[in-house]
Amino acid sequence: MKIIMLGAPGAGKGTQAKQIADKYSIPHISTGDIFRANLKAGTELGKKAKEYMDQGLLVPDELTCDLVMDRISQDDCKNGFVLDGFPRTIPQAEALDAALTKIGQKMDYAVDVDVPDDNIINRMSGRRACLNCGATYHIVSIPTKTEGVCDRCGNPVVLRDDDQPETVKKRLEVYHAQTQPLIDYYKKQNILKSVDGTQPMEEVFRAIVEILGA
Ligand code: AP5
Repeated sequence: MKIIMLGAPGAGKGTQAKQIADKYSIPHISTGDIFRANLKAGTELGKKAKEYMDQGLLVPDELTCDLVMDRISQDDCKNGFVLDGFPRTIPQAEALDAALTKIGQKMDYAVDVDVPDDNIINRMSGRRACLNCGATYHIVSIPTKTEGVCDRCGNPVVLRDDDQPETVKKRLEVYHAQTQPLIDYYKKQNILKSVDGTQPMEEVFRAIVEILGA
């Protein structure tokens, strides 16, 4: 099963994508996580990506597309994958379609996790992320067992640089201008499914499983 998670920054794409990956035993591919891992490793890609991420802007398509095409061509993606944060522009969606068409495949579902902007701004200020293992928490809804320490790997959890309120506002603007048009793009392909992302996480997951099938 090949799934795209759509939605504004902080809509809960990552939270849901991780659970989908577990349930359906497919890889979770998050472009944001790939960029952050590169940054941590000090690669050129990581340094370039940071310049854009810290301003709330999208990393240029040419840096992003090859990376994803390479990842989905790996063996563990043969039975499908869940894309989280990609595509984010029409050219990225077209590049993905073209790469899949070449091998006689296509995406099965684009799941839009719908959350209004006001709700997003509140959520992001409470998110804490582990920059070591990628786990995410929320100071109210999913707190760490020990304050400030990742349950999974014991490293500190922090407010991501791009989760500062001014940067979140910019990310939302960029989302509406460049990513939201993908909703129509996938509607036209008849693979768009929308879920109400303001519900509790378990309810959002239940709604997604209903769409994807048990
Ligand atoms: P990325 O890391 O992908 O950020 P994003 O899309 O902005 O998404 P987030 O990770 O911020 O949020 P999410 O929707 O996954 O929400 P989460 O589940 O964490 O990308 C970062 C940057 O990298 C981009 O800004 C861009 O610069 C660059 N980039 C990445 N991909 C790119 C691409 N394809 N092209 C170009 N540039 C790219 O949830 C958020 C919080 O809410 C958490 O605290 C969570 O616990 C909580 N929460 C989740 N669900 C619920 C719920 N139902 N109720 C209450 N709280 C909830």
